[in-house]
Amino acid sequence: MKKILLMNGPNLNMLGVRDPAIYGTDTLATIEAEFAAYAAERGAAVDCFQSNHEGALIDRLHEAYGCYDGIVYNPGAHTHYSYALHDAVETIDVPVVEIHLSDIEAREEFRRVSVIAPACIAQVKGLGKAGYLRALDILLDGPAGKDGASEAASAPAAEGPAAGGAR
Ligand code: DQA
Repeated sequence: MKKILLMNGPNLNMLGVRDPAIYGTDTLATIEAEFAAYAAERGAAVDCFQSNHEGALIDRLHEAYGCYDGIVYNPGAHTHYSYALHDAVETIDVPVVEIHLSDIEAREEFRRVSVIAPACIAQVKGLGKAGYLRALDILLDGPAGKDGASEAASAPAAEGPAAGGAR
């Protein structure tokens, strides 16, 4: 059975309360439960981790080395400036799909850049909570997804196959 880590960064523990017009009304607990249920349907096991602290997120990524087949990661605002998290993702030999609830390219200027995406195998954005499931499909099936719906995700760089692909 494949093992997947679902990681969420700062302020995502406040989903449900935080700007529902942008992020939706579901709590993180609901999103995690739906993600785990979908993963179980697809024959994968899930661990979840959320932190508001960069160092804790780096530590969790390091611990994932050798332990997971893939990581679905919403880095929150760290997306836009944390080279330390970029380096942690790059260091571990585990494919990571970056996911954002909102379409970061359609928002403020500072959100349009992801410094973490170049270390990831793909980026999913603007699909709301369904994006987490899409990210899991990419890990399990590759960028085309099990139904070939490749338009939902945008790859950060022209690179090889998703799951287990070389970075
Ligand atoms: C986010 C987008 C980020 O810009 C923001 O800082 C978040 C959430 C998203 O899921 O859309 O915290 O990652």
